[in-house]
Amino acid sequence: MKAYILLTPGPTPLPPSVSAKMAEPILHHRTKEFGKVFDQVISDMQYVYRTQQTVVMMTASGTGTMESAVVNLMSPGDKALVHTTGAFGDRFVKILRTYGLNPVVVAEEWGHSASPEKLLAAIKANPDLKACFFQHTDTSTGVVNDLPRLAQVVREHSDALVVVDTVSGLGAEELEFDAWNLDVAVTGSQKGLMNGPGLGFAAVSERAWKAVAAAKLPRFYFDWTTMKASLPNQETPYTPGVNLVVAQAEALRMLKEEGIENVWKRTAELAAYTRKQVTGRLGLKLYAKDPADILTGAWLPEGVDGNKLLAAMLAEERISIANGQEKLKGRIIRIAHMGYITKADVDAGLDSLARRLQPVRA
Ligand SMILES: Cc1ncc(COP(=O)(O)O)c(C=O)c1O
Repeated sequence: MKAYILLTPGPTPLPPSVSAKMAEPILHHRTKEFGKVFDQVISDMQYVYRTQQTVVMMTASGTGTMESAVVNLMSPGDKALVHTTGAFGDRFVKILRTYGLNPVVVAEEWGHSASPEKLLAAIKANPDLKACFFQHTDTSTGVVNDLPRLAQVVREHSDALVVVDTVSGLGAEELEFDAWNLDVAVTGSQKGLMNGPGLGFAAVSERAWKAVAAAKLPRFYFDWTTMKASLPNQETPYTPGVNLVVAQAEALRMLKEEGIENVWKRTAELAAYTRKQVTGRLGLKLYAKDPADILTGAWLPEGVDGNKLLAAMLAEERISIANGQEKLKGRIIRIAHMGYITKADVDAGLDSLARRLQPVRA
């Protein structure tokens, strides 16, 4: 079978040793053997998050971890702010509204990062915010936000919690949970963490735990308190995705062996290379004004139907590149370069694009 080249910003390809772990005989989750692996995953996640604070794990996709942040921190009537830079900020808005909350929304034009000035104005106009929600990297636009600066604005001008979706950023793009003074950062296993989809994590600060104790929105499966309570027993409250946990331990071992700062550097180098190739060799215009290192988004030339182009690449060459989301569908491409994606993978995608776009230009 032809090799499958996965260049999408989640799921991302798996290291062979991680795939092999998934195929091992399944362990029972109430055993010492599994408990040890789980405990290692939690402590290695603290390493990746750069935190001494508690990390909890859930068997859920990234959206589940976003919802867990809402239900664990908020009470009916609480005021939240969402600083949205794309589809995933909009998702926080939808989740908050689902639970009957009416967030203050600060929206950036797609492709632009969150403006600290706009944030400051919104905080001044809303002094009673319980929490501010941000993306680390917004995968829909390929933008990275200046989280240390945004967190600083929140800290200096309000008591609101700083809640971050780093589903596509963690393990690829610099993040310092403690040094940046974040309160919550949620993530998923299927991107920078080099695992299959299905596990979620949340790093939770002491300040956030106080909010959790007081929060009144309904929660059961996603209750972080029960997850935290079972950590000393090296257990999860309910049956976790056992094989994903075992595989995550291996992926985290690899990330630690490389060193997280080296991972950030490697990702940044591949991003710089990809941006150069996309603009130079392919002659495309970059989409993001403040591009992240996790993926490169670029406008397709006039007259090129992105839906057809990407479908043909997949059908004829088994190369999977992401389409634009929502209003960008068919108009931009998104080439990921995070996790276990290599330069050879990126080159295969670029070669195919060069061949397919060349007749359009001729
Ligand atoms: C920034 C960001 N947030 C949230 C999600 C949602 O994650 P999931 O699709 O695992 O629910 C994604 C997934 O693409 C993402 O990139």
